[in-house]
Amino acid sequence: MGHSQVFMPECHSTNDEASRLVQQGHAMEGTIVVTNNQTAGRGQRGNTWDSEPGKNLTFSIVIRPSFLSVRDQFYLNMTFSLGLYDLLNVRLTAKVHIKWPNDMFVNDKKICGILIENHVQAQHIQHSIVGIGLNVNQKSFSISTPTSMALESGNEFLLEELLPELLGCLEKRYLQLRAENFGQLEQDYHHSLYRMGEKHVFKSNNGIFEGTISGVDPSGRLKVYADGTTEYFEVKQIQFLK
Ligand code: BTN
Repeated sequence: MGHSQVFMPECHSTNDEASRLVQQGHAMEGTIVVTNNQTAGRGQRGNTWDSEPGKNLTFSIVIRPSFLSVRDQFYLNMTFSLGLYDLLNVRLTAKVHIKWPNDMFVNDKKICGILIENHVQAQHIQHSIVGIGLNVNQKSFSISTPTSMALESGNEFLLEELLPELLGCLEKRYLQLRAENFGQLEQDYHHSLYRMGEKHVFKSNNGIFEGTISGVDPSGRLKVYADGTTEYFEVKQIQFLK
């Protein structure tokens, strides 16, 4: 990953730039688009992704997981979350968790988000754009909830050193996926899952309830045990409250 790199001093969204490269036929697997200043970053569920220029990692990777059927697409979330988890686990002393489906959390705060956009044809994934926003050296945020590697460790990090290290971690997990080592990915994902096995308060379409996360099913739904039964939730169907 990252053998071919396109650097843009500024762009709207690296996911959009990476997608444009694919359309133009200029992106082999592992190509990354990196920017110092993303002016219209996109997040999950139509949210925006804000990042202070020059402080963080904001980039997108083109992958071609045509070996993966659509019904197994959640393994991409596991793969890339675990790659980030592996890096953060080495670089930070604080405990790192993956918040379902693919946010990285440290001390109950979000440090990294991933936006995966899949292009499907004939039940197989032709290509995916994996966009990663990792808060590295930014120290103040317009909303109170995020954190960064610098805030958590008290140290600043060199982005030009961190990026190849992260790409190495992501590639290692992607090779596990390509080798169809699904069991290992599932096991490691569950091992690092935020609030796994703990009783917490959630909000679903049926109201506020207390439940315990018992895992994620192969299609990526969150399993929550509440009132003697296990309920399955898609991303838009449940919110973590406290
Ligand atoms: C989220 O948690 O909502 C996902 C955030 C993903 C942000 C990254 S930054 C690089 C790439 N380009 C984008 O426009 N978004 C992703």
